[in-house]
Amino acid sequence: MHIDLLRGTEVSLPQQISGTLAQRITSGLLSPGTRLPSVRTLAASLAVSQMTVSKAYAELEKRGHIVCSQGKGCFVAEEVKQPAEGMASWQDGYDDYLPRAQLWRNFDSLKVQYPFHLASIHHELLPLADIGRIMAKLVTEHPELMGTYGNFQGDLELREVMRAHLLDRGIPLHSSELMITSGTQQGIDLVARTFVGPGDTVYMESPSYTGAIDVFAGRGAEIIAVPTDSEGMRVDVLTRMCDRRKPKLIYTLPTFQNPSGVTLSMARRQRLLELARSYRCLIVEDDPFSDLYFRQAPPLPIKALDREGHVVYMKSFSKVIAPGCRIACVAASGDILSRLIAAKSASDLGSPLLTQRAVLPFIARRYDAYAAKLRISLRERMEKAAQLLKQYAPPGVEWAPPEGGLNLWLKLPAAINIRELHGLAEREGVSFLPGEVCQAGDQASPYIRLCYSQMPEAEMVQGLTQFLQLLARQLGSSNRTNDSAS
Ligand SMILES: Cc1ncc(COP(=O)(O)O)c(C=O)c1O
Repeated sequence: MHIDLLRGTEVSLPQQISGTLAQRITSGLLSPGTRLPSVRTLAASLAVSQMTVSKAYAELEKRGHIVCSQGKGCFVAEEVKQPAEGMASWQDGYDDYLPRAQLWRNFDSLKVQYPFHLASIHHELLPLADIGRIMAKLVTEHPELMGTYGNFQGDLELREVMRAHLLDRGIPLHSSELMITSGTQQGIDLVARTFVGPGDTVYMESPSYTGAIDVFAGRGAEIIAVPTDSEGMRVDVLTRMCDRRKPKLIYTLPTFQNPSGVTLSMARRQRLLELARSYRCLIVEDDPFSDLYFRQAPPLPIKALDREGHVVYMKSFSKVIAPGCRIACVAASGDILSRLIAAKSASDLGSPLLTQRAVLPFIARRYDAYAAKLRISLRERMEKAAQLLKQYAPPGVEWAPPEGGLNLWLKLPAAINIRELHGLAEREGVSFLPGEVCQAGDQASPYIRLCYSQMPEAEMVQGLTQFLQLLARQLGSSNRTNDSAS
C-alpha cells in the first residue's frame, strides 16, 4: 500500500498515515472488512518505524474506522461512522495548525475506575473545603470580583503573596517580576507562542512532560531529547549537543521530574544556567512538585541562581491545592516578562479574579502547615504502593522509590507489549500512562508511569494489586509464547 508522506512538516507521520487511510475508508476506496497490511509490512513499505504505524492504527481504531484484534490483524470496520452529510466535504480538508496532542488522549479515559495515568492528588487530600469557604464568602460579599476584568499580569495582592512564597524558597524577586497564569500549562503555551517558532531548537529531558512536548512541537520547533540519569538531565551531553545546534530554549523539570521522578543535582543546575548564559537562551523551569518531598527538601530552584533573567520559572498550585482553580505563578524579568504579559493579555485578558482571590488567603496563611501534612500523607501512600510493588511486581520490573512527587516510573521487561497491556488494563478499569507519550518523537519506551496519589488509599491498593497481577499474567503468557516459539 502506498501513502505519500511529507517529512519535516508540522503534521506528524502517524497523523499523515491515519488521515490518508481515514479518507480512503470514508470514501469507500477501502471497503468494510478489508484487511490492512500488518504493522510490520506497512512500516517497511513506507520506511517508517513500526511505532509510527501502530500509532496511526490506534488513532483509526479510536475513531471507529478500523477494528483490530490480537493475532488476526486490523480490518476496515463494517460500519464506519460517516460524518454528517455536507460536513465531511469541507471539514476534512480544512487546514489547522494544531499538533495532534498526546495530552488529550490521556484524559480520554477519565471514566476508568483506577486512573493511575493522572498525575494529581485525590480531592480528599486537598484543602478544597477551605478554599470553597473563601470562595463562597467572596461571591456573596464581593460579587464585583465577577464584574470586572483583573490585571493582565495577575492580581497585585496575590502577586505579593507569591513573592513571599517564592522568597521562602530561595527566589528573591519583586512582585512586578511575577505573572499569574491559568495553570502552568498556559505558562508553557505563552512562552512557546512568544519565543518559539518553526526551526527553533528546544532541548528537554528524555522523557518529559507530555503537555510541554505537544506545545513546543505545535510551534514547529525541533525538539531534541537530552538523556537523563539518576542526577537528572545529562548537562554534559546537552553541552555537546548545543555545539551542534544552538538552543533557543531549554525546558526542564529539575525537581521530582515528571515522569521519571529524578532530581537534578545542584552542580548540574549551576552548569545548566552557565550553558544558558553562554548561549544567551532561556531556560523554562517547570516546578510543580518541589514542595512534595518525602525526606529532604530538594536543591534550590535554578531561578534562585539566576541573576540575568535567563530562567522563566513556573510554579503550579494545581497539584498541591486545587487543579480546578487553575492558578500558577510565572517568574521572569525584563523584556522577557513584558513580552509574556503581552501574550497573556492577547490570550485571555487575565486569569479569573475570583479564583485568584480564593487561593490567596490559603497560600498566604495556611499553605506551609498544610504542605507539611500533605507530605506525610503522600509519603505513606508512596510507601504503600512501593510495598505492593515489592510484593506483586513480577521479576524483571525495574523501579526506584521516588524521593518526592506523585509518580512511580516502572521499566517493564521487553517481553511486555505495552499497548496491549494498556488495552487489557483499561478493560479491567485500570489506566496508566505509557512511557512513549513522554518521548518527543516516535520512539518506543519500555516504561510506564503510575500515579499513586490519585485515589483514596483502599482504591489505590485494590487497583495497583489488580494491575500488578495482570502484569504478571501477561508476562507469564508472553514468556510461554516465546518458549514455545524457540
Ligand atoms: C510537569 C507539569 N507541568 C505542567 C503541568 C500543567 O499543570 P497546570 O496547568 O495544572 O498548572 C502538569 C500537569 O500535569 C505537569 O505535570
